[in-house]
Amino acid sequence: FALAGCGRGAGSGQTADLLASELQLPQRFRVPLPIPRVAKPARSDATTDYYEITQRVADVEIVPGYKTPVFGYDGEFPGPTIRSTSGRKTVVTHRNELPVPTVVHLHGGHTPAEHDGYPTDLVFPKDGNPGDFAGHGDGMLGDITRGSRTYEYPMRQAAATLWYHDHRMDFTGPQVWRGLAGFHLIHDDVEAGLSLPHGDRDIPLMICDRAFEADGAFRYPAVDPTLRHVPGVREEYMEGVAGDVVVVNGAPWPELEVDAARYRFRLLNASNARRYRLSLDPNPSGGDGFVQIASDVGFLAQPLRHDRIDLAPAERSEVIVDFSRYPVGTEIVLRNELGNGSTAEVMRFVVARKAADDSTIPERLVEIEPYDAAAAKVHREWSFTRGRVGNHAGWTINGKAFDPNRIDAEPKLGELEVWRFYSDLHHPVHIHLSPFQVISRNGRAPGPYDAGWKDTVDIPPTDYVEVAIRFSGFTGKYMMHCHNLEHEDMAMMSAFETVD
Ligand code: C2O
Ligand code: CU
Repeated sequence: FALAGCGRGAGSGQTADLLASELQLPQRFRVPLPIPRVAKPARSDATTDYYEITQRVADVEIVPGYKTPVFGYDGEFPGPTIRSTSGRKTVVTHRNELPVPTVVHLHGGHTPAEHDGYPTDLVFPKDGNPGDFAGHGDGMLGDITRGSRTYEYPMRQAAATLWYHDHRMDFTGPQVWRGLAGFHLIHDDVEAGLSLPHGDRDIPLMICDRAFEADGAFRYPAVDPTLRHVPGVREEYMEGVAGDVVVVNGAPWPELEVDAARYRFRLLNASNARRYRLSLDPNPSGGDGFVQIASDVGFLAQPLRHDRIDLAPAERSEVIVDFSRYPVGTEIVLRNELGNGSTAEVMRFVVARKAADDSTIPERLVEIEPYDAAAAKVHREWSFTRGRVGNHAGWTINGKAFDPNRIDAEPKLGELEVWRFYSDLHHPVHIHLSPFQVISRNGRAPGPYDAGWKDTVDIPPTDYVEVAIRFSGFTGKYMMHCHNLEHEDMAMMSAFETVD
């Protein structure tokens, strides 16, 4: 049981519990990188694009030669990419043809509460009743529907790489693991004016880990219905579920042929619990193998140069990689320095040909108003620790297990607040509705990956991290939680209500 040494184990950054696949691991760098399909609107009018997505079970080939049954948006893993234009409304009708209740959350979206995917706002299968499913009794039902639900996104927000995923109360881990995740990109005129790599050279990379049964099915710890908040997770998975196969856009350790030119990669860590430290091998650059241009919720004020990119679950980082630095024919492995063995590699690029490149990396990207944290009048403290959930072990915030009917904070719209997070091991903390700025770590300057507008921040053990946040736009009930999905399912969530 790895948690005993959590201070050291988690501090080293390794993901402790590895769920091993029962089938022979596929060879690396054999499958071409898939690019998720871009969804087409079912219809559009002057102000709005309307999409329809059916959540269903489908067999997909992830490991060559095997069929994996997935829970997929439109039966696909990853789900189709939705591309929105800032300022145009996007309306998505999700039909639930899965055998389980679902909830859709647009992660990073500035969304009215009733469309944000509160974990008890369940969409049951058409003929399903709450009593048919473990865990949705007493007080666990919000605004429920049957068969489908229409989510409306105003999209009054700047260009960014968002993603949508399941958020079902107590069951987010198992349902995302089975495939319920996709990209949702927002474009705007500022982005269009930046002459960044685009078209085939603007590539979203959804990185996650999985384990497989001998027959190709996803492997996930067995369901134990006696533990109300721990439906899928046993004690040995207290740190979260991590598999031995790295999957990018639904393919194991894929390979991408690239031109000797600049590419924009939209990196997303969609893993349940695994953290990555990505690097390029070989890396001929002196400190700028990756030029970071955006973080979770949009562009940085100016590019930042790194040789490594750290990504906790749910974090995004957009980077430019310049393959013209490599001779044609070079094979470049995207490594994970926090992995062991099979999880130490993510994918491979092969420089296939010389090519023209008219992209540039501007020295200024967007204006970001720095929050003046000293002016904040409201301070809140949140401590993310192991604790009791009912009669068993779980994860708590300020010593409390999540209760969907309890409000832990009532921030006023428009008012700047400083939230300080404490943590007993790595907890990637995510706040819904409005992005924040990281102000300090342990009272010192923020870290190399803290720049820009963030919606998720990794809190390492024994650190505290302060963020400044100003909620805007919508009153209602929202979530703040750990984005280690097993921690989330083991009650490490808190509800707040924004008020006028
Ligand atoms: Cu990406 Cu509340 O989640
Ligand atoms: Cu956590």
